[in-house]
Amino acid sequence: MEFMDHLHSHSGLLRLVPRRPFPVTIAPMQWYRLEFHMANELGTLLPSTFNLSDIHVECSLLDKSPAALSSHWHIDWQLLLQQGAWDSEPSLQIQFLIRPINTSLPPHLPAHLMVMVSPTYDGDNSFYMLPLITAPFCLTSKRQTANNLVPNNRAWSNYVTQHMYRGFSLPCFDQRYFLIRESWVHGTPGKLWDSALVISDALARQLLPLNLTRPLKVLDLSAGTGVIGLLLAFIGQHQNNTMLDITLTDVPEALSLIHDNRCLNKITYPRLSVAPLRWGIDKDIQAIQAKGPFDVIIASDVLYEPIKFQDLVKTLDKLTTPSTQTWIGYKRRGLKLEEEQSFFTLCHPRFQILDRSLDENVIHCFGWLGPHAPTLTTSLPPCLPHRVTGVQIFHLSKNSPQS
Ligand SMILES: C[S@@+](CC[C@H](N)C(=O)[O-])C[C@H]1O[C@@H](n2cnc3c(N)ncnc32)[C@H](O)[C@@H]1O
Repeated sequence: MEFMDHLHSHSGLLRLVPRRPFPVTIAPMQWYRLEFHMANELGTLLPSTFNLSDIHVECSLLDKSPAALSSHWHIDWQLLLQQGAWDSEPSLQIQFLIRPINTSLPPHLPAHLMVMVSPTYDGDNSFYMLPLITAPFCLTSKRQTANNLVPNNRAWSNYVTQHMYRGFSLPCFDQRYFLIRESWVHGTPGKLWDSALVISDALARQLLPLNLTRPLKVLDLSAGTGVIGLLLAFIGQHQNNTMLDITLTDVPEALSLIHDNRCLNKITYPRLSVAPLRWGIDKDIQAIQAKGPFDVIIASDVLYEPIKFQDLVKTLDKLTTPSTQTWIGYKRRGLKLEEEQSFFTLCHPRFQILDRSLDENVIHCFGWLGPHAPTLTTSLPPCLPHRVTGVQIFHLSKNSPQS
């Protein structure tokens, strides 16, 4: 019980997760239903202090490619139920209908669209909700969807989707969204962790507008979904600046999701590479060293298995020079203090370590909360207090050889 309370202590940023699959082909002017439950980043369900009746929901419609608010189609929606229909697990149900904005000149069908569901929590300010972009579906005529029954010999997954996307947008993106597909079946690398959300947002805001005049080599170490490195490439591509040189690495089995997310955003950025790197494995480290030296290394949420700390520190040591800025995102979850400390003890002989967790420039803002995000004042962009995610940011700089 105490352990569960501990896990919940910085779990104020909740995710909507699809509860049932959804057909991939639907028709305009017809009502459909989506059902979700809510979980924190670990997938554990809601703490008892969460009050379902304090949730409000806004829906928006995105064109799939490029992902941007649809200018042809409109979505009507109703929030139906806040309790599971068949069991006691809390869930949200949304009923929605899609109609043309201009009825006298209906847009062409088929259309490829996505629904963005943006919940807000009005209870107190201890919970924030990450919008869900779900169901990339094909909007087509009624006659075609009526025939869209699943033949016995065809995979159900061709006819339904349970895809979970998160979208990032800033005013300078001209209504476009950078999308990341989460794939919880991929395990740890398939999730979008709080630390990556905080770091990607902070980096994007610091880099924009991108006016680099000399190359900056960035390594996103153990990139998971690829969110941080791919967002940097998306920004470079969007701003026509190719001075960022970006490498994403992870264990070999994690790389396919990074490639999928790269394709999803149509990233053709020329200076982007994705490569395997297992901590501590010399062959892998040497291959990545050849792409350096790196100006910046980002290691988001890599401190969770003390048994691997030695290999991780060895990897960081080999990939850094005294001019490399290394940023580590860390979230306190289940590690004991002495386990946490053992990472820094291993780093100490080689690195200077600064805790930048409460530096507002580093950690303050949050572009993942969507167009309906709560704002503290009208003049400020969406903010996510540090206490909600508990993400800590450490800056490591390598001691020069003579020091
Ligand atoms: C908690 S996830 C964080 C992913 C991503 N950086 C983020 O913040 O969303 C931890 C990442 O470390 C990677 N990882 C775990 N053990 C590893 C190892 N021995 N070598 C390289 N990467 C590893 C996982 O594959 C996973 O992508």
